[in-house]
Amino acid sequence: MNLRMTGISKSFGANLVLDKVSFSLSGGEIIALLGENGAGKSTLMNILGGVISSDEGTIEIDGKEISFANPRESLDAGIAFIHQELNLINDLAIYENLFIGREIRNRWGVLDKKAMIDKTREVFDGMGIDLDPEAMVRTLDASYKQIVEISRAMMMDARIVIMDEPTTSLTETEISRVFSFMRTLKSHGVGLIFISHKLNEVMEICDRYTVLRDGHMISSGTIDSVDTDALAKMMVGHDVVEEKRAVHKSGDIVFSASSVSDGKYFNDISFSVRSGEVVGFTGLLGDGRSELFLSLFGAGTPYSGSVEVSGKPVTMHNPQEAVSLGIGYVPRNRKENGIVKDLDILENGSLVTMGMRKKGLFLDSKRIEEDFEKEKKELSIKMGNETDPITSLSGGNQQKVVLAKWLSADPRILILDNPTQGVDVGAKEEIYTIISDLADKGVAVIVLSSEAHEIVRTSSRCYVMYHGRILTELEGEGLNEQEIMRWATGAAI
Ligand SMILES: Nc1ncnc2c1ncn2[C@@H]1O[C@H](COP(=O)(O)OP(=O)(O)OP(=O)(O)O)[C@@H](O)[C@H]1O
Ligand SMILES: [Mg+2]
Repeated sequence: MNLRMTGISKSFGANLVLDKVSFSLSGGEIIALLGENGAGKSTLMNILGGVISSDEGTIEIDGKEISFANPRESLDAGIAFIHQELNLINDLAIYENLFIGREIRNRWGVLDKKAMIDKTREVFDGMGIDLDPEAMVRTLDASYKQIVEISRAMMMDARIVIMDEPTTSLTETEISRVFSFMRTLKSHGVGLIFISHKLNEVMEICDRYTVLRDGHMISSGTIDSVDTDALAKMMVGHDVVEEKRAVHKSGDIVFSASSVSDGKYFNDISFSVRSGEVVGFTGLLGDGRSELFLSLFGAGTPYSGSVEVSGKPVTMHNPQEAVSLGIGYVPRNRKENGIVKDLDILENGSLVTMGMRKKGLFLDSKRIEEDFEKEKKELSIKMGNETDPITSLSGGNQQKVVLAKWLSADPRILILDNPTQGVDVGAKEEIYTIISDLADKGVAVIVLSSEAHEIVRTSSRCYVMYHGRILTELEGEGLNEQEIMRWATGAAI
């Protein structure tokens, strides 16, 4: 199989987002499609997947020119587009999901359950997938759901698989499972396109790379001829300098929890955070850190134990109460929890400040716009008009708008769950600098992350969690990636 996209151009209104881009892929290889937020990666893949059409350019498979009026036609041509929001139905069994719309019937027109289960088992065996075809999709973790979705495409003879940031919300174990499945597909001659901002993953799984910048093809080559620094440089157009962790002067304890438990996800958690310090929380799958903070802010399971904000006992029943206490909380999975699809960019970016910036009965819209404008610059949000729909932004830029919303609210305590999810390498550094500047201004910042590197880079102190408990607190020399991994995996106990 050989895919060739040639001279692809696409504009949205006056905005030229792809300018004569060429891209090629052969069977049996995994190619990384790289570029900053807004570079045009998803747009190029949406064209290949039949989601949108290009203004110019051609697509050829094995030398034959083809065009797609819709995703169905692209799939029929052997192209499977695996979206982050997977298209599986939770309340059906795996085999039922695989045969939706193409059910096998016996000669009396009755569904042939056995034939479908057998066929599913055959496909799974061939791919080395260890799943029961009759298991409900609901019971699968995120990696297995991806694997099932790709298997469905394989049953329809897909020869090209597009994966647009498949690993952003997966844990380490899930990622390695998806990677080994990708290698199996590769050995079956399938060509895979892998979009990711995690450059070490790209180095691990891909054979070749193509870099887009501002809608232009910048370069492509083999992975073994580059390293992550070189890729980062091609993406942003200059060296990405990693700064050292800054040292901040911390003040009084502004947030503390003692013996907090929910009897399910976390147990006997006690910690405290001072103004002006950046404190990390990390751990692996099932560590409970996200659930812990959701609970503390009244958005998760109820807990026992006590919480104090600036020395006063509080119980928050919903995120609004947290806001009124000067706490900002950027949740994980911002696609689901952070964005209001029906609102425009500015409205999304000022959802929090809106309640604070009032002149008498009226909204101080000038101030709201100024606030947003400032964050837009700091986070280098790539966008057209403030009144454009939020959905017109690239994935990473939507994430940045959610961050902007909280930053412009000037919180005294800021909790960031997975702050750089989906953002490109350059913007990552910018966000780290913002975190550091906030701490300098006296804000207490709590960073939740599964990336040890991110914790070391941002935090002056960190709590490592394991199966719902805080195992240790690391600081100074002891706060390094090796120590974090030793505790996070439970090896240190
Ligand atoms: N439906 C749309 N309407 C208007 N503009 C759009 C639309 N879809 C994408 N764009 C614009 O096209 C540009 C490229 O976006 P695209 O989603 O392809 O970026 P990306 O490389 O996938 O970035 P990210 O890494 O953030 O996902 C962006 O400037 C974006 O705002
Ligand atoms: Mg994208």
